[in-house]
Amino acid sequence: MSAIRPAAVVVLAAGEGTRMKSATPKVLHEICGRSLVGHVLAAARELKPENLVVVVGHAREKVSAHLAEVDAAARTAVQEKQKGTGHAVRMGLDELGGAVEGTVIVVCGDTPLLTGGTLAALAAAHTADGNAVTVLTAEVPDATGYGRIVRDADGAVTAIVEHKDADAEQLAIREINSGVFAFDGRLLAEALGQVRTDNSQGEEYLTDVLGILRGAGHRVGASVAGDHREIAGINNRVQLAEARRTLNDRLLTAAMLAGVTVVDPATTWVDVTVTFEQDVIVHPGTQLHGATHLAEGAEVGPGTRLTDTQVGAGARVDNTVSVGAVVGPQASVGPYAYLRPGTRLGVKSKVGTYVETKNARIGEGTKVPHLSYVGDATIGEYSNIGAASVFVNYDGQDKHHTTIGSHCRTGSDNMFVAPVTVGDGAYTAAGSVITRDVPPGSLAVARGQQRNIEGWVARKRPGSTAAKAAEAASPTPESED
Ligand code: UD1
Ligand code: CA
Repeated sequence: MSAIRPAAVVVLAAGEGTRMKSATPKVLHEICGRSLVGHVLAAARELKPENLVVVVGHAREKVSAHLAEVDAAARTAVQEKQKGTGHAVRMGLDELGGAVEGTVIVVCGDTPLLTGGTLAALAAAHTADGNAVTVLTAEVPDATGYGRIVRDADGAVTAIVEHKDADAEQLAIREINSGVFAFDGRLLAEALGQVRTDNSQGEEYLTDVLGILRGAGHRVGASVAGDHREIAGINNRVQLAEARRTLNDRLLTAAMLAGVTVVDPATTWVDVTVTFEQDVIVHPGTQLHGATHLAEGAEVGPGTRLTDTQVGAGARVDNTVSVGAVVGPQASVGPYAYLRPGTRLGVKSKVGTYVETKNARIGEGTKVPHLSYVGDATIGEYSNIGAASVFVNYDGQDKHHTTIGSHCRTGSDNMFVAPVTVGDGAYTAAGSVITRDVPPGSLAVARGQQRNIEGWVARKRPGSTAAKAAEAASPTPESED
């Protein structure tokens, strides 16, 4: 399909969305890692419009601040009072200097499932048919609340009648107005000037433009969406959850068709920004967020939540929470690990069970297998960190760094009190509190000497079960034969 570049896209986002029952404006609610209006903008941007204007009103500071973050090139038009969708489009056109030459696409900010492809098809049909207006419609199972598409005996669209203004015959119509239109910009501006407010809501209805243009002898067309779920408007949190499920399914379907095994799509949740390579395996109960990337053959889950995390080829990540980490190829993480920002795991490295890392570089083949905290650290290659070790990085005021070399063997239950350095090939004894640098190849022992006070239990706890057990264990003269 040849791309039709519209002169403008107008996104309507001034409404409060009362039915969300929320302090957050409706269009800022999120599904799959993006706000509702963010999804609409992403679809609209695929058309490469010359202008994109978002009509804001309710909580406009919040909405405008969000728009500046997600689409700095978008312009905003303010609709002070919500006088209807027709009035909102007028405000949008005013921002663009009034009438616009060429095609103007109007979309609502609360239809996050709409795709760029559907918008492009609408624009193409609009241009090919030489219409003054083309409305995107759909047949829905339940048309409650939607404007109905009224057609004449020849099937030509004659009007859109709002649910609240419809008679019994019109209420029976299952074809509805999606709220998405392609207009001739000049004719749109003219017709908006004629829209009246003599309806049940006392508003300027954008939908009245169809009847006005048809009455003036212009061509009015409709384009029926292939999948009615795509045009669903979000008005409450039940619909928000349904839309999230639908979009998630769409994303997982695309991933599976591209060669990703998703063991349980029902319990796997992904953001639109997540990317996969071939032969990735995703186990149940996994959530993938932000700029997460899974390289070829990586296997993640079950029970894993990754945010802005890169997982290298063939790596294994099990029952893990990770934010802002890079996991090297064939590395092994978890079960029950927590990788925090600045974690960089080398090739074939291991971060095992109940291990937390933060701002830590762990070299190729190095293992931190059990029960440890590695914060603000650099560890070389092929070293092993004993169980239950803590990188003591915080003195109550500042953070300090620990460096451990390559091919080190540090004992279990070590405290590395930063700043401190352990040289290449060094060992440390179990239970050591390492406060001074350890030269390469040395064994560091930093713990109290053991002292055994014999007979203490018999003297201090006479008659106790411990004393009896000790007595039974004592060698007797007979047993020495
Ligand atoms: C609207 C349509 C209806 C269609 C439905 C599709 C009209 C009159 N009705 O109804 O035919 O089936 O969408 O979902 O157009 N908005 C403003 N300013 C306003 C009023 C609305 O910006 O003064 C924005 C809202 O923020 C929202 C969009 O326009 O994004 C639609 O408004 P809403 O009140 O949800 O319209 P519906 O009653 O759903
Ligand atoms: Ca709506």
